Amino acid sequence: MRTFIVLKRIQKRLLPPEFQSQDNRYPEALVEYFLGKYTEPGDTVLDVFAGLGTTMLVAEDMGRVPYGIELDGSRFGFIKSEVQHKSNVILGDALRLDSYGLPRIDFVMTSPPYMNRDDGMNPLTCSRTDGDYASYLRDLGRVCTKVRKILKPHGRLVIEASNLKRAEVTPFAWDVAREISRVFYFEGEVVVGWEGQDDGCGTYGYGYDHSYCLVFRNLP
Ligand SMILES: C[S@@+](CC[C@H](N)C(=O)[O-])C[C@H]1O[C@@H](n2cnc3c(N)ncnc32)[C@H](O)[C@@H]1O
Repeated sequence: MRTFIVLKRIQKRLLPPEFQSQDNRYPEALVEYFLGKYTEPGDTVLDVFAGLGTTMLVAEDMGRVPYGIELDGSRFGFIKSEVQHKSNVILGDALRLDSYGLPRIDFVMTSPPYMNRDDGMNPLTCSRTDGDYASYLRDLGRVCTKVRKILKPHGRLVIEASNLKRAEVTPFAWDVAREISRVFYFEGEVVVGWEGQDDGCGTYGYGYDHSYCLVFRNLP
């Protein structure tokens, strides 16, 4: 496995104006890289935090069968308007993924909503409720326990995450790796160096110009 890659931080797809200020998509090239490496045409691909649909749209372009779960109604509506597999987009909660009748999945790729360790709102409810960092990490682990039940044996889960630099550093990517390692076999991380626009706080916008793709495997 290559453990360091460099990609341009550019999006091919333009967003409608209402989503441009909340664009936290990962670039299509990242999804292309991992789908090319770990999947074949016809495989089922799931994103449990579908966001604005990058995983689903790239999977579809590459002849894979995409599934996605998104909690936010307007984002769900956007994905649905863009993908061909419209009934495979679920308006729902990743914590309830076992209640949506999903098929067996070959590959999961996602990026969770990020949280700083001193934040007081729960990103897994789109910050509609209070929450703390430890509970958030436990809930991510619960989502992954459910992912494990529908992911085929030896199937991979790739989670994109960055550490977060504000006044203090939250080692978010490392904490996520540790938590999910309780559920899945951790194969290791791929460091992704991001080239592109410089927004003054790191090209990735979280204080860093690199992030991590954490690669897990569903060992029986
Ligand atoms: C970092 S964004 C994902 C962006 C995505 N990778 C893309 O390129 O479009 C995380 C998404 O998770 C969604 N979300 C937050 N909590 C959720 C939950 N409990 N279940 C499903 N989706 C959730 C947020 O609304 C947000 O759109």
